[in-house]
Amino acid sequence: MKLLIKNGTIVNAADSFTGDVLIAHGKIAAVWKRGEENKDATADETVDASGLLVLPGAIDAHVHFELPFGNIASADDFYAGTRAAACGAVTTIIDFVTPDKGESLMEAFTIRKKAAEEKSCVDYGFHMSLPFVTDNVMEEMDSAVSAGMSSFKVFMTYAFRVSDNEFFRTLSRCKELGALTMVHAEAHDELTALKSEFIASGKTDSWHHYKSRPESVETFGVRRAIELAAKAGAPLYIVHLASAGGMAEVEEARRYGQIVYAETCPQYLHFTSGVYRRGDGQNFVCSPPIKGKHSQKALWRGIKNGGISTVATDHCPFTLAQKAKGKADFTKTPNGVMGTENLFPYMLSEANSGRITFMKAVELCCQNPAKIFGLSDAKGTIAAGKDADIVLYDPNRDYTITQADMHSDVDYTIWEGVALKGYPTRTYLRGCLIYKDGEFLGKRGFGRYLPRHL
Ligand code: URP
Ligand code: ZN
Ligand code: ZN
Repeated sequence: MKLLIKNGTIVNAADSFTGDVLIAHGKIAAVWKRGEENKDATADETVDASGLLVLPGAIDAHVHFELPFGNIASADDFYAGTRAAACGAVTTIIDFVTPDKGESLMEAFTIRKKAAEEKSCVDYGFHMSLPFVTDNVMEEMDSAVSAGMSSFKVFMTYAFRVSDNEFFRTLSRCKELGALTMVHAEAHDELTALKSEFIASGKTDSWHHYKSRPESVETFGVRRAIELAAKAGAPLYIVHLASAGGMAEVEEARRYGQIVYAETCPQYLHFTSGVYRRGDGQNFVCSPPIKGKHSQKALWRGIKNGGISTVATDHCPFTLAQKAKGKADFTKTPNGVMGTENLFPYMLSEANSGRITFMKAVELCCQNPAKIFGLSDAKGTIAAGKDADIVLYDPNRDYTITQADMHSDVDYTIWEGVALKGYPTRTYLRGCLIYKDGEFLGKRGFGRYLPRHL
């Protein structure tokens, strides 16, 4: 089956031009600029993309589908999560394998991969989380890399946090393997002290979730992580960066030539900590929490100056009832918010409004995650030989986000009422139409596992 997408404005991270894209057997067979098109090119179907942008499918490099949290799990399983992703023009997601203490990394991978294989509607890969660091784990990392997990994540907080020594060991081992270390960077001792102080004085509303993990908690964490990476001489990827202080640490390290990538999330770019003062503040509880206006501005500056390399969602939603359990006590609120359906439409809307260029949105959501996470042979760019993961985007279609139109299993969205300028109209995954005009057309299990290179 050959498909020809004609007369669209093709946008990659490096260039943008009017032209045609020919798709055959799930791959991009050819891309022609206007004037150089092959007049003899034939197709079974032709789509006229005049007035539309033709973009690579987005890569959401940070999601948590069916993530266990105490005795509940995040509300979207691999089916609902990837259905929502597909309807937000995301054609690839990267989730996490999180082994239990003592469990082999490869055993945990097999179980997680099976769940995704049966349900995923878009292509998927995994980062390997390391909730404990032992000799066996260090040894098994080699097998994880061979199985396509070229990135390893550690946490500086939560019960499964690593010590500085374990973090350094992970960085050194990743360096040896040519893999990438990712980190959730929040200073555990500082946030624990603040949390205890607030609990002792009965300050347990959602506002104090933010107050217990303020800007300084992230800044200390990011600084420490960067110092350890510098000592190990290893590259570092900081997930969900949310603060001006953390941003400044990343920018400083990059100025000195250190390889540090920072990811931020749309919730940190759009909302500010004021949401935690709202009556429904618990619905916005995530870690790190959404910060103040000053931080939001710093993140947008980082996007413009290259300090931010990727935007991904940390999609980890819980239902209203699950969130409500923590309304009076932030320590009982399951952490995480939704966004995989909103990531690319939001960033493209910001581009459409003139804040960034469309090419920048593609760089952050498509090309950079593909490059950083070893997917660039097939994903992230519209070019001959790549997978035909293609989005048609109408810059003139206004769209207001509302729960009723979302495709996740969650019963609310933090994005309710947010007005977007422009919206995706069609999404193809490997040449198959998986989304059209608000309707999900994909299939359970159509997503393929993506072993990622180093
Ligand atoms: O609140 C969040 N972000 N939950 C998901 C787990 C994590 O820390 O990324
Ligand atoms: Zn995290
Ligand atoms: Zn996360």
